[in-house]
Amino acid sequence: MRIGLLTGGGDCPGLNAVIRAVVVAGSVVHGDTSVGFIDGWKGVLDGRVVELDVERCRGILTQGGTILGTSRTNPFATPEGPGRALATVESLGLDAVVAIGGDDTLGAADRLFQQGLAVVGVPKTIDNDLAGTEVTFGFDTAVQIATEAIDRLQTTAESHHRVMVCEVMGRNVGHIAVHAGMAGGAAEILVPEEPFSLDAVCERLVRRHEGGRFFSTVVVAEGATPVEAGPGGRPEGTGATDQFGHARLGGIGAFLAEAIERRTGYESRATVLGHIQRGGTPTAFDRVLATRFGAEALAAVHDGAFGSMVALNAGRIDRIPLSEATGSPRTVDRALLHDVAGPHLG
Ligand code: F6P
Repeated sequence: MRIGLLTGGGDCPGLNAVIRAVVVAGSVVHGDTSVGFIDGWKGVLDGRVVELDVERCRGILTQGGTILGTSRTNPFATPEGPGRALATVESLGLDAVVAIGGDDTLGAADRLFQQGLAVVGVPKTIDNDLAGTEVTFGFDTAVQIATEAIDRLQTTAESHHRVMVCEVMGRNVGHIAVHAGMAGGAAEILVPEEPFSLDAVCERLVRRHEGGRFFSTVVVAEGATPVEAGPGGRPEGTGATDQFGHARLGGIGAFLAEAIERRTGYESRATVLGHIQRGGTPTAFDRVLATRFGAEALAAVHDGAFGSMVALNAGRIDRIPLSEATGSPRTVDRALLHDVAGPHLG
């Protein structure tokens, strides 16, 4: 078969491991040939591809990012986009496309599938917010990086008797905040799913400090917001958006540190981890998961199981309809957040 691969949306560690699994196993086991679209769906619209073979995939297993480049271009942004995408795939003589991405990329894949594209999806995002799979690759690496940062913040917080606020990624969901916060023993974990009360956060911090713990680490997801309105309440964003109209988040950490210091009198500092969480080499877990996803995507292509997405459920790799994975994000487990991770363990 001749297979086209693309990586779309924000990059994440493990993308190259998927590409390698599809291209190398496809070539060695099935005699397939592969091309990679440059910069996600943009490359499909523009007909820009590179040949991919075993040689090109040497050494990429451990590399972060994506050798194909990525973008947030959505073929449905213009009326002629879907037709152009289908025409490109046909003109290149491709039998199938493997789309590796998050909600936007796979949502477009599903819509193109409805229009006749032979496509299989592979879920990726450090945010881990895709429905239908227990975990996406990239998440473990991001949690590892954030945990290491929180560990480092804890020791300097303790030395200086400070409150250290650590802002992590998480636009709509707080999986990174919950997992890294738990692993690092944070005093507070604040997520987008539940607006938090500044009053309540400060009260708990005061109680903790009065109880003899003279430092605290607060982990906040970039999409988290306080319930209090007006001055001292929700920070006004810059209103900045990327070229696709998505709001650029960031700033809640600095806002929170300033508010905590003003309300409690405890010296507070903010650290934003930002894209450090998305860069660099994947953890062993993510390399293995990405390779398993790639192998199953290849099997799905050869089975003609188009319109499906590979997923991890109960430790097994299976396939689910693309439509089940896109649309509504998988949010954090409230019991994990409140009953297990709750401030009592911070
Ligand atoms: O990959 C998802 C994500 O990490 C979000 O948590 C974050 O808001 C977004 O990417 C930032 O992406 P960028 O700054 O690269 O556009």
